[in-house]
Amino acid sequence: MTQATIGRCNLLGLDGVPADELAALLDEADGFVAAVRSRETTDLLAGRVIANLFFEPSTRTRCSFTVAANRLGASTVDLTGLGSSLSKGETVLATALNLDAMGVDAMVVRSPRSGTPHLIADAVACPVINAGDGRHEHPTQGLLDILTLRRRWGDLTGRTIVIVGDIANSRVVRSNLHGLTTLGADVVLVGPPVLVPVSFTKITAGPGRVSIEHDLDEALLRADAVMTLRIQIERHGDDGGGAIPPDYRRRYGLTVDRAASLPKDVPIMHPGPVNRGVEIDSEVADDPNSSVIMEQVTNGVAVRMAVLRRALSP
Ligand code: CP
Repeated sequence: MTQATIGRCNLLGLDGVPADELAALLDEADGFVAAVRSRETTDLLAGRVIANLFFEPSTRTRCSFTVAANRLGASTVDLTGLGSSLSKGETVLATALNLDAMGVDAMVVRSPRSGTPHLIADAVACPVINAGDGRHEHPTQGLLDILTLRRRWGDLTGRTIVIVGDIANSRVVRSNLHGLTTLGADVVLVGPPVLVPVSFTKITAGPGRVSIEHDLDEALLRADAVMTLRIQIERHGDDGGGAIPPDYRRRYGLTVDRAASLPKDVPIMHPGPVNRGVEIDSEVADDPNSSVIMEQVTNGVAVRMAVLRRALSP
C-alpha cells in the first residue's frame, strides 16, 4: 500500500484506497454515528494526544477532529499560524518536527499548499491525517460525504452524483471522485468551462464513470444526489479572475426553482462553508426535507473518530 492511501496508519488521500478498505472505514464510522448523536464518550483512545496543525482557516474540520478525539477519550493540542512561532518565520516542517519531538500520537494537518501533509508524514514518526491540502485532497470530507450517501442508499453502485461548482479549485471534489468511483458511483461534474477542466474525467478509479456537463438543468435530470461547491476565490490566484463569474447563480446556482424540480428523495449536499445566494439559495440549504448539510457535519465527527481510531490502534 502506498503512502498516498491509508498505509502506515496515515490518511493522506483517497486516491488508491481500495474498495474493501473504504468500506471497512465507512462501516466503522457508521458505527460511531449513534454515539455522536447521543453525545457519548468512550475510552478507546484514552491518554492519547492528537495535534491539530491548521495552517489555513477551518471551522468544521478542525472542530470535528477535536470533538472526535475527545469522544474517543483523547486530548488535543491546537496550533494555527496565529499565535505560534510560524509568525516568527519557523517553517511548517520544523513546527511539525517539534510537535513530533514532544511525543504527540498523531497529527492532523491542513495547509493551503498541496503536499504539505505528505512532506510532514515523510519526516515524523507519528501517523499524519490530511485535513485538506491546497487543491489536492480532503479525504475525511470525501469519506463523510460518501458515508452520508451510503447511510441513505446502502450501496452506491449505479448511483449518479451531480457535483456543481468550482471543480478546478476543489480538493473536496478530488477526494469524492476517488472514493465515489471506487465504490461504483458515477459522477457528473457541472460548472462553467473555466471551472471544470476536462482532465478531471480521468480522476476515476472505476467502476464508476466521470463526465462533464455545462448545463446544470440537463445534469439534474440524472441526479440521485446533488453536491454544491463554493467558488474558491482564495485559490484562484492572479489568472483566475478572483471573482464569482457573472451570471453564476442563474446558470449554476441551486436556486429554489431548480431545487423544486428535483424529485423529493434527492439529497442536497454542501461541504461548507456555504455562500448563500450564490451556489445555493438559503431556503434550499436550510430545507429540512432535502438538505443533508447538517447530517454531513454530524457524520464528519463519526468519520474522524474512525480515522483517528484506525490511525492510533490499527
Ligand atoms: N468542509 C470544510 O472543510 O469546512 P472547513 O473549512 O470549515 O473545515
